[in-house]
Amino acid sequence: KKTVDDISVKGKRVLCRCDFNVPLKEGKITDENRLVAALPTIKKLIADGGKVILCSHLGKPKGEPKPELSLAPVAKRLSELLGQPVVFAKDDTVVGENARAAVEKMKDGDVVLLENTRYRAEETKNGEAFSKELASLADVFVNDAFGTAHRAHCSNVGVTQFISGPAVVGYLMQKEIQFLGQAVENPVRPFVAILGGAKVSDKLNVISNLLEKCNTLIIGGGMAFTFVKAMGYEIGKSLVDDEKLSYCKEMLEKGKKLGCEILLPVDAVCAASFPDPIDDANLAVKTVDISEIPADMLGLDIGPKSAELFANAVKSAKTVVWNGPMGVFENPVLAKGTIAVAKALAETEATTIIGGGDSAAAVNILGFGDKMTHISTGGGASLEFLEGKELPGVAAANNK
Ligand code: 3PG
Repeated sequence: KKTVDDISVKGKRVLCRCDFNVPLKEGKITDENRLVAALPTIKKLIADGGKVILCSHLGKPKGEPKPELSLAPVAKRLSELLGQPVVFAKDDTVVGENARAAVEKMKDGDVVLLENTRYRAEETKNGEAFSKELASLADVFVNDAFGTAHRAHCSNVGVTQFISGPAVVGYLMQKEIQFLGQAVENPVRPFVAILGGAKVSDKLNVISNLLEKCNTLIIGGGMAFTFVKAMGYEIGKSLVDDEKLSYCKEMLEKGKKLGCEILLPVDAVCAASFPDPIDDANLAVKTVDISEIPADMLGLDIGPKSAELFANAVKSAKTVVWNGPMGVFENPVLAKGTIAVAKALAETEATTIIGGGDSAAAVNILGFGDKMTHISTGGGASLEFLEGKELPGVAAANNK
């Protein structure tokens, strides 16, 4: 794939699509991992003398300029991280007079950030007019927005058709594709995949694809209970996707046929109801074997025997991919399963890759972030990658 190393940007206007879709609370960025991850590409473009025009979406303003979803706080923080001004092109039409004027004034090595691309309704429809407007601002296009690569929008796909010069990927995109791609397509074995999170229906294709690729598939979190029920156990009030019971049976069969071992929880931490508030530290819980979940309780974390079983499977692995927490890790009483798995990954010599979203947040909150080989910045994007799909953002960045 062509990257920023394959082009010359000296004196050129470079439109660089990043994923600055970061969580904000009262105008403050609460997790800046995506900004930090974008720095290597931005620094390279600055060092090479490009005029760096950054763009991104933030949240889902659905074509309405919403002040609380402005990228202004990102410009401010980026400028601190880069140690140089980042001019914010405040412009409700994204590529309007203000943006053009800001770009006009740029000198080599300057950085401008455009307003939230989703202030324009055409953005998410991959419309031609807005794609052309974006392309007209620059000579070269760099896509470093892995987190958005599963979307086909103007600012990551449409624009590549109209940019006059090359369209390439940045370092973050390259790194994500390298780690996730290597794990899925050519893993050093044994390859263990761990899936968790609430719903089976969110991960149907991931489960099916990973069964074909890995040696052991561990299933924990809320989604495990549909599998447990499919095996004939009573699961009390645990989360279940009844429509997916036959799918789960099919997957258990598929695992057997392909020689992929499927590990499910053998015990669970249960409570009478979902904790409210979610971090209620006084929640009364009961740990039981998976075949003994009381009728009036629901499983909210894997139990200690499951944690040991899963940790042992990780110990013998050479490649581990993890997506989705093992329980309601936001609650201290229900975080032990997720902590045990994070710890097992932190202690192994294996290549460890964490899918974005909740699992990345869990690993960072629990303090194991720097022990992992790679933590993806993509939530939905990393999941679709694990499904084996070609991501439109990746495909488009290399079509020139
Ligand atoms: C993400 O956070 O997963 C990406 O930025 C994509 O955001 P979206 O789900 O709003 O398209």
